[in-house]
Amino acid sequence: ERAFPRATLGCPVLDDLLHGGLPCGSITEIVGESGVGKTQLCLQACLSVQLPRERGGLEGSSVYIYTEGDPPVKRLCELVERRVRRQLSHGSLPPLDNVLIDCDIASPKDLWVCINQLPNVIKGSSMRMPVRLVMIDSVANVFRDVSDRPTVTELKERTSMMFRAAAVLKELADRHNLAVLVVNQVADTMQGVNEELQSSGRGVLPSLGLAWSNCVNTRIFASRTGQGLDASRKLQILFSPHLPPAACEYQIRPEGVVG
Ligand code: GTP
Repeated sequence: ERAFPRATLGCPVLDDLLHGGLPCGSITEIVGESGVGKTQLCLQACLSVQLPRERGGLEGSSVYIYTEGDPPVKRLCELVERRVRRQLSHGSLPPLDNVLIDCDIASPKDLWVCINQLPNVIKGSSMRMPVRLVMIDSVANVFRDVSDRPTVTELKERTSMMFRAAAVLKELADRHNLAVLVVNQVADTMQGVNEELQSSGRGVLPSLGLAWSNCVNTRIFASRTGQGLDASRKLQILFSPHLPPAACEYQIRPEGVVG
């Protein structure tokens, strides 16, 4: 536990599920359908990691690689106003100065270049707090548009790139004792297979397939039934080297993700 500190998610229920928060030194993946709240969790994580240690934070900054278009900066500002401004008023820089957002990612190659720049970005970061969290939201989105029917060569290249990208992320997680959070989507066409896998306890097959599955250490599955404020949302640990299978419910409120 001591060797792998946790970064709070800013919600006691989620922190309980993860035994303290996102683990440093490994790759955590959150998988789920669109609209389930994966981005909301990322936004909350990049603010919570800045919290002082006595509040479960790591007094760290974060790098947020956003591949889905315009980054949700407005929502991030809203979360700062609603939940963390007072908690962070311990002489630190304004919270947004401790989040580096990279959103210029349109292709797998862009993502690969971006991931390879991370070691230098982290070393040369002008953010005052050390980088303790790296997030990619989402990794599936980058690959989705490439080709619906990839050739065998394309598939091999893609798989090889994913393995190499995961190796870079894992090395960073180890070297800087930071948490890596990767967002992924469940492939819609795989829904039937997913249900089968879930009911057999083996977990979901996200859109990047089994090659990527082997690269992540902890996988969390987010799901939703119903719509809007009445939606019932659930987070479930599918596999993890340090956590038992478990689940919790959560909601998304103006002040963020709450248990
Ligand atoms: P994809 O990016 O499409 O895969 O979805 P996601 O899982 O990342 O979902 P996201 O976190 O973007 O949004 C999930 C839900 O959060 C939405 O359906 C809304 O209910 C809620 N939400 C998103 N933005 C806001 C906001 O600014 N305020 C509030 N109160 N809720 C929001």
